[in-house]
Amino acid sequence: MSEDVVSDILRRFPYGFYSVTSRNGDEVNAMVLTWISQASFEPRLIALALQRTSHTYALVKAGRVFAVNLFQRGDFDIIQPLTKSSEKAPDKLDEVEYSHAPETGCPVLEGAAAYLECEVLQIFETGGDHDIVLGKVVGGESFQPGEAGDTLTLPEIGWSYGG
Ligand SMILES: Cc1cc2nc3c(=O)[nH]c(=O)nc-3n(C[C@H](O)[C@H](O)[C@H](O)COP(=O)(O)O)c2cc1C
Repeated sequence: MSEDVVSDILRRFPYGFYSVTSRNGDEVNAMVLTWISQASFEPRLIALALQRTSHTYALVKAGRVFAVNLFQRGDFDIIQPLTKSSEKAPDKLDEVEYSHAPETGCPVLEGAAAYLECEVLQIFETGGDHDIVLGKVVGGESFQPGEAGDTLTLPEIGWSYGG
């Protein structure tokens, strides 16, 4: 236990580990992300906390669409190339295969267990380093059947994003 109890507690949230893909015109991108939640049953809404300085943020703000790619436990190696920023690895998407989601054109990553594609309803400026992006689910597909316990998580790979 460190002296920062709040940080320690925040690190105990058991987040999933996903790739969020985005598109604005012909430009596409993919990043890894953990801070994501369903935010309404009807309509089905998804909320992301998105770092304001990321390239994905600029694409989502301009293109108004994103997709969430889910992976099975044990499939971390598929998204490992996407853990770098566009600034450090501008060609990171060349390292993975992908198709385009039918409604939004966002990348659907080869090897994903499932994906959801969303249209942006609103971006809430929090005043912090991440803003909240609220998206309405407009499509999705499951390639491998599974339950929550089958999905790749941060605790599984021993990484942390929080505190
Ligand atoms: C384990 C892990 C979890 C992350 N979770 C988030 C997250 O929830 N939200 C976010 O905006 N960035 C998150 N990031 C940081 C982004 O992946 C990082 O800003 C990325 O380089 C942005 O890529 P881009 O500039 O190509 O969009 C996470 C990074 C790692 C390694």
